[in-house]
Amino acid sequence: MAKLNLIGISGSLRKGSTNSMLLSEAARLFGDCTYTEADIRFPLYDADEEEATGVPAAVQTVADQIAAADAVLISTVEYNKGPSGVLKNALDWISRVEGTPWSGKPLAVMSAAAGRAGGERAQLILRSFMVPFRPRILQGPEIHLANSSNAFDENGHLTGEIYVKELTQLMEALRAEINR
Ligand SMILES: Cc1cc2nc3c(=O)[nH]c(=O)nc-3n(C[C@H](O)[C@H](O)[C@H](O)COP(=O)(O)O)c2cc1C
Repeated sequence: MAKLNLIGISGSLRKGSTNSMLLSEAARLFGDCTYTEADIRFPLYDADEEEATGVPAAVQTVADQIAAADAVLISTVEYNKGPSGVLKNALDWISRVEGTPWSGKPLAVMSAAAGRAGGERAQLILRSFMVPFRPRILQGPEIHLANSSNAFDENGHLTGEIYVKELTQLMEALRAEINR
């Protein structure tokens, strides 16, 4: 049987992003699967550009990856108490493709941030962003990774036992949702 196919979307573009690291950990704790992080380095959404040249190929690629995935993981950074503009821009572009790649898609969201609340407010806003796209979004456990630059060991593994436990539970819930 083919391995389950997970796509990750990180709200931070930087190399060494702790949100990207959290997504990789989620995929590892999910167990046997194929995991790919989507490249959401899209141009800024501009309706004139869309009318002139259509949806960029990079956007279509990610929409196709979502449509083909068994499940999607999103981890949002928190910038000034909200998700990054990069992530919102990506969601807006993806909403412009033909079809409904998110519809019915099992989706786990999480957040990683420098602050003590681990991006809780940003994650709540991200959850509201996803409502119009109607994925099957998991309600929990909610992962808010605080002080994220100190949360991983040199192998990129989460060091906090509670995070490992709850992220494992979230991934078990995601597997159950895929199989439902
Ligand atoms: C413009 C900006 C705003 C930020 N605002 C917040 C914030 O509201 N809450 C917070 O916990 N961290 C905030 N941070 C710190 C980020 O959480 C931190 O840079 C984090 O590591 C980014 O995630 P990454 O490692 O995936 O890039 C902010 C950082 C920047 C650059």
